[in-house]
Amino acid sequence: MDLGLAGKNVIVMGGASNIGRAISLLFAEEKANVLVGDWDDKQAEKTAADITNLGVKGIAAKTDVTNWDSVQDTVQKGLGEFGSIDILVNNAGWAMDRLFVDKPRSEWEQEVSINFWGVINGIKAVIDHMIERKQGSIISIGSDAGRMGEYREAVYAGCKGGVIALTKAVARENGRYGIRLNVVCPGLTPGKIDECGDKSLWRGEEAQIFTPEAQERAKKAYPLRKLGTPEDIANAVVFLASKRAGHITGQTLSVSGGYTMM
Ligand SMILES: NC(=O)c1ccc[n+]([C@@H]2O[C@H](COP(=O)([O-])OP(=O)(O)OC[C@H]3O[C@@H](n4cnc5c(N)ncnc54)[C@H](O)[C@@H]3O)[C@@H](O)[C@H]2O)c1
Repeated sequence: MDLGLAGKNVIVMGGASNIGRAISLLFAEEKANVLVGDWDDKQAEKTAADITNLGVKGIAAKTDVTNWDSVQDTVQKGLGEFGSIDILVNNAGWAMDRLFVDKPRSEWEQEVSINFWGVINGIKAVIDHMIERKQGSIISIGSDAGRMGEYREAVYAGCKGGVIALTKAVARENGRYGIRLNVVCPGLTPGKIDECGDKSLWRGEEAQIFTPEAQERAKKAYPLRKLGTPEDIANAVVFLASKRAGHITGQTLSVSGGYTMM
């Protein structure tokens, strides 16, 4: 099936490690040019080099999605390099699993800044350009936590629920301009450590919670009895971004082995 992505120009925010890296590389395999916006510039450069090796333009831009000026600069860099932006993926995310009553405010603030403000900033930075061109596709990475309210992930779940509602509202307002917005919700998708930079969740404290034993327990909650891979998520994102999903907008797709069914 031709997805019609050859020659398209894509920005993947948080595109350097794990799920974001798999998304960036799959777009490149489909012959789209990809700008990797990530605050881990070392890992972003590595992913951009791997994209270039696939025969398309791979560009890295140090970006903090919580910072409006930084996000605007990255979009301007994409426009300068590519001439247009067809697709934006808001993948940057961060969480620290703790009971609501135990969490320090600093962690809530970081979760809200990255998971919700990061997506607002990304959409706002490209939407005028997409309206002008009367086309565009924006995929934001949610989480099954945002659909069902996951234990030990209260504020993170609230942010991801916010991403789902934000996406629907912006999709309603801008469908008339040919712009589609959708959300892909992973379930537990462990990082392959050599695909993860220093700022990846899978190199930090959060990863220690998801021990091999905890991952085995999690599998039992999934009807398919297996966890997701970054490539599973990338397949859904690339499809939803493509012309094959041209009549799909405002939707939320879980890629989580059936963990949530909504
Ligand atoms: N992996 C999972 O189990 C899982 C489950 C549900 C949802 N998700 C969501 O999937 C997305 C990717 O998760 P992952 O597991 O690949 O995480 P990850 O930590 O491995 O990758 C996240 C990427 O975003 C970047 N990033 C974080 N904050 C940033 C910021 N402020 N500005 C720019 N870049 C920033 C990181 O450097 C990293 O490259 C996130 O939105 C996450 O919430 C993941």
